[in-house]
Amino acid sequence: MMRLHEVAELHPPARLADWIEARLDEGLCWFDHADIYGDTRGEALFGAALRTRPGLAARVRTVTKAGIVTPERDTSPFRVKHYDSSPEYLTRAIDDSLARLGVERLDHFLLHRPSPLMDAETTGRALDDAIDAGKIAAAGVSNFLPAQWRRLQAAMHHRLTAHQLQLSLDHTQPLFDGTFDALLEDDLVPLVWSPLGGGRVFQGPAERLLIRLAEECGITPAGLALAWLRALPGRPRPVVGSLRVERIAALHADAQAVLDRPTWYALLEAARGHEVA
Ligand SMILES: NC(=O)c1ccc[n+]([C@@H]2O[C@H](COP(=O)([O-])OP(=O)(O)OC[C@H]3O[C@@H](n4cnc5c(N)ncnc54)[C@H](OP(=O)(O)O)[C@@H]3O)[C@@H](O)[C@H]2O)c1
Repeated sequence: MMRLHEVAELHPPARLADWIEARLDEGLCWFDHADIYGDTRGEALFGAALRTRPGLAARVRTVTKAGIVTPERDTSPFRVKHYDSSPEYLTRAIDDSLARLGVERLDHFLLHRPSPLMDAETTGRALDDAIDAGKIAAAGVSNFLPAQWRRLQAAMHHRLTAHQLQLSLDHTQPLFDGTFDALLEDDLVPLVWSPLGGGRVFQGPAERLLIRLAEECGITPAGLALAWLRALPGRPRPVVGSLRVERIAALHADAQAVLDRPTWYALLEAARGHEVA
C-alpha cells in the first residue's frame, strides 16, 4: 500500500472498497501498510474504504509498521528524520493506526527500522502489552540485523513472528551475509519488500534471461522473479507493490511456478554478473 496515496483513481472510498473486495474474492487478503506511507494518508484512505462496506474490515488482514519519524513530523528544533522505538511512541502509533484503518486489531505490527537508541526492555514490554491487550495479533520487525531482533526478542515473552526485509534478484545480499539464515533459524516468517526491486529487476542484468525463461515456462517475467524468491527455504511472502489489477492477477496466476536448481542459479548469476565461487 506504499503507493496508494499516489493512485488518485483509487481514492474515492467506494472505488477502493470495490478494489479491496475484488482482491479478497481472488484469495488475496494481506495488505501491507506503514504510518509513513503518504504521511498517514495510505492508512486513512484504506480505512475510509473499509468503513463504506459492512463486513469488509473483518475480511482483510493488515500489516502495519511504525517507528520512522519524518523531518516534517519531528517537533524538535532539529526537524530531523529519526527512529523512535520508545514505548510511548509505539503505543500511540498502534492506537493511531487502529483508528485510521478502522480495524479491531492489527494482524502484524512491525518496527519499521532498528534504532540504536532502542531500549529492548521497554520496547519489548510495549509490544507484549499491545498483544495482551488484543490491539495487535503479532509483533515483528523490518530491516533489522539478527543481533538487533534477538536483543528485542530476549526482552519479550511473546514471540516475534515476522521479519520484513528487502530481497530480490536486484538485492541478494541477505542470502549471503547470514541475515536470511538467521531469520529461518529463529522461525520468523520472511516478508519480502521490493520483491521486484521496485521494478529494477526488469531493467537490470537479469532482464534478458528473465524474459527468455519466462516465455519458455509460460509465465510472466515478474512471476518468474517471484518464483525465484519462493524457491528459498521458508517460502518468502512477496509484498507486491503494484496496485494494477492486471499485474496482481498475473503474479497470482504465476504463483505456483517452481524453479529447478540450475534455473535458480542461472538467474542469480545473471543478476550478480558473476558465477558462484
Ligand atoms: N519494510 C520496508 O522498509 C519497506 C520498504 C519499501 C517497501 N515496503 C513494502 O513493500 C511493498 C512493495 O515494494 P515495491 O513497490 O518497491 O515492490 P515491487 O513489487 O518490487 O515493485 C513495484 C514496482 O514495480 C513496477 N512494476 C514494473 N513491472 C511490473 C510487473 N510486471 N508487475 C508488478 N510490478 C511491476 C510497479 O509499477 P506499477 O505500480 O506501475 O504497476 C511498481 O512501481 C510496498 O508497497 C510496501 O508495502 C516495505
